Amino acid sequence: MWLSSLLVLVASSTVLAIPAPTITRRQNSSSDLGSCPGYAASNVVKTDSSLTADLTLAGSACNVYSDDLQDLKLLVEYQSDQRLHVKVYDAGLNVFQVQESIIPRPKSGGSSSSAALQFDLVEKPFSFTVKRKENGEVLFDTSAAQLVFETQYVRLRTKLPDNPNLYGLGEHSDSFRLTTQNYQRVLWNTESPNLPKNTNLYGTHPVYFDHRGDKGTHGVFLLNSNGMNVNINNTAEDGQYLEYNTVGGIIDLYFLAGKQPADVSSQYAEVVGHSAMFPYWTFGFHQCKYGYWDVNMVAEVVGNYSTAGIPLEVMWTDIDYMDLRQDFTEDPERFDLHKMRELVDTLHSRDQRYVLILDPGIHYITNYTTYTSGHEQGVFLKAADGSDWLGSQWAGVVAWPDWFAQNTQQWWSDQFSTFYNADTGIDIDGIWVDMNEASNFCDSTTCNPYNKGGAPIPTHPPRPNTGRPIPGFPADFQPSGTRDVEARRAEPLYPRQSGTGSSKGLPNREWFFPKYHINSHNGDLPDFTIFTNLSNADGTMQYDTHNFYGHMMAHTTQATMLTRRPELRPFVLTRSTFAGSGRKVTHWFGDNASDWEHYRVSIRQMLAFVSMHQMPMVGSDVCGFNGDADEFMCARWALLGAFQPFYRNHAELSSRQQEFYQWPRVAEAGKKAIDTRYKLMDYAYTALYYQTTDGTPMINPVFFLYPNDENTFGIQEQWFYGDALLVSPVTTDYSDTVTIYFPEDTFYDYWTYEKVVGQGQNVTRSGVQYNEIPVHIRGGTIIPQRANSANTTKLLRQQDFVILVAPGSDGNAKGRLYLDDGESIEQPAISEIAFAWDGKTFSCTGSFAYGGAQGESITVDKVIFLGLGSSGAGGNGTQTGNGTQAGTVEKQGPWKLDGEFSFTL
Ligand code: NOJ
Repeated sequence: MWLSSLLVLVASSTVLAIPAPTITRRQNSSSDLGSCPGYAASNVVKTDSSLTADLTLAGSACNVYSDDLQDLKLLVEYQSDQRLHVKVYDAGLNVFQVQESIIPRPKSGGSSSSAALQFDLVEKPFSFTVKRKENGEVLFDTSAAQLVFETQYVRLRTKLPDNPNLYGLGEHSDSFRLTTQNYQRVLWNTESPNLPKNTNLYGTHPVYFDHRGDKGTHGVFLLNSNGMNVNINNTAEDGQYLEYNTVGGIIDLYFLAGKQPADVSSQYAEVVGHSAMFPYWTFGFHQCKYGYWDVNMVAEVVGNYSTAGIPLEVMWTDIDYMDLRQDFTEDPERFDLHKMRELVDTLHSRDQRYVLILDPGIHYITNYTTYTSGHEQGVFLKAADGSDWLGSQWAGVVAWPDWFAQNTQQWWSDQFSTFYNADTGIDIDGIWVDMNEASNFCDSTTCNPYNKGGAPIPTHPPRPNTGRPIPGFPADFQPSGTRDVEARRAEPLYPRQSGTGSSKGLPNREWFFPKYHINSHNGDLPDFTIFTNLSNADGTMQYDTHNFYGHMMAHTTQATMLTRRPELRPFVLTRSTFAGSGRKVTHWFGDNASDWEHYRVSIRQMLAFVSMHQMPMVGSDVCGFNGDADEFMCARWALLGAFQPFYRNHAELSSRQQEFYQWPRVAEAGKKAIDTRYKLMDYAYTALYYQTTDGTPMINPVFFLYPNDENTFGIQEQWFYGDALLVSPVTTDYSDTVTIYFPEDTFYDYWTYEKVVGQGQNVTRSGVQYNEIPVHIRGGTIIPQRANSANTTKLLRQQDFVILVAPGSDGNAKGRLYLDDGESIEQPAISEIAFAWDGKTFSCTGSFAYGGAQGESITVDKVIFLGLGSSGAGGNGTQTGNGTQAGTVEKQGPWKLDGEFSFTL
């Protein structure tokens, strides 16, 4: 009683959540769409691997939101046995198609006869179905509504069975399994403080998974980067459907046959690319905060972590380090270069790492070489009159890199090689690219960025008055005369747009306010971002490419990091993403709030990104970004975050400090969390490795492993870390109780080794302390662990291994371990090791080339068998929920992981 009233008090007094923006949804009147004539197919030509047809508008144009296109083409390719490609595009090849450089298209080489999916077409009115051949299940059926293909509006609707299990279509903060009635997913990358629900966030991933239990799982990817509303609804009139409504682009669909959920993940990776392998150290614990306002404070935080005995692998600094908030500069008073170099040297000497931030907005002043050199090399997006187009970001008035411009990559790399020079600059280990949706402080097309320049002044105490302006820009630095923003709107000029037939986008569209409205929570298309009427250097328009501006910044930065250290895997963290971003970079979920809801949201965002968007190295700001964290929530989040791939504590400028050492309770939870995460690091690293090679997700939603168990389809607060560890955190605010769903299977408590026979039911566990998180090992798996944790990942690699064998109900188990040097792109020697237990014999087989660097251990100390002891498997130790501890049997080593070994019990 006493405790709970105390908790309520804590909750109400310390959590000052900043409200998420109110979403007002503008209705698009769809009534006129009923008069749209649809299309008729002709000249249908079939081969064993493809089908082509002409599509012609089947009546008078309806021109509801723009002009109907008269002539379209259909291309169907059986690209592989598991992948079908269906493309509907304009015959004139003028409509924008996503560049190959953004998503290199997968090869096609399948045949209709051996394919798992079947395409069928109705000629008039044109519609098509995609079926799973094996069971005749119709996966997609566009007869649900006429195809509408206009210059600034495309609609395609598919019927679906009632109440489908749909997932994906990120980025969002909604339920993991999507709502199927009156629901809309908006895809338009934008600044999204506090991760508002039912709307767009920072990234665009137009892929969904449709799980139909034992009838199979399939995926549908729409390769289209235009702003869109995806409507999911079930009405008496129309039944259940999913409908794409885009303001441009073509219909470019990839159907992925599955049939298991993880197969869809792998097949999606074949389309958008497999994730890069990230350095081993990136699995360490990271600390950041906006508002570490001098280099001493940064050092102090590192020191405090050591004093508290909490391992800190990576220290970060936010925009605080910059001079006047300008990229590639350091504040000479607070982040003096000499001291910064000392800081980095100290971190490196302790085997710790350092990461800094960059923003895309480049301060538009004449005494700043990043700007002037960029201007000379023509790297910035241009206004109608050919001058650099201006907006507003942290530094004030800014120009924006055009990632398509010929010299941008080189110019960006040049900035890095000077500023992040190991010998003369700040020798970073990784880089963080932020605000790249792109987020423009200018809110609308009437905004004059000159009036915004002074807005983002930091609120922390001012530094000593030296007469230097902080931040902003003195009037005499400005180029003479301000330009008339309205004029740019009135007289758009598209100097770089090419002629017809190039798929670079139709000319003369309404660039700002297309009649069909995308329900962005940030207003119209150009609001709070780079204007959508700008052309890119390759002749395409921001209207069409906006959604991958951040992706391009991140990929350009990754390429730059590669030129800086060609032999090392780059680590780039980006806020904005597009389908395929995971090929090269990592992502955090942006500006969440320090509250319990965002603690929960982080789980479903992780599930979607890792298992469905092929971005494995992801995580939330642990303990929350906006508002003040409290110790109870932060303790739980410290543990939860340790079981997510990317693990960084980060907070906002005005938030209270929330490093784990700030409260004894959180310090204790954090230590335990890091200790456990580190012991499991090779297990997680192995799971990442396999995701990079075959797309198998390193985080599994529960239904991925139990696809026929309906109870698992909606689970969004439990997950499998790898494929063996079921994580079930307490998710109710200030509670010590958790309801854990155990599928019908054998499990073992990770902490006690107690055996749990899952019955396909919920089990309630109470008394879960703030330093505890329930974790269970799935029977049938083998987990390689380090015997001990360590202060850094370098020291961790010197610890011996202990192998945990968790037999399944059939008595067998298997697992794997991948070893390499943790950071090289070209690995001279790797080990891919398979462990197996058949109830009698334990075996270790595979390839064993990795011998370990100096001081590293590749020794297995012992093998622990769970559930085999006297009170173990099949005996009276078997229990459901809380019960007696099953026995274990230990076999003492050592064995070296340099060759096969086996033994019999
Ligand atoms: C917005 C980012 O989302 C946040 O993480 C960062 O602290 C601020 N920008 C300041 O750079």
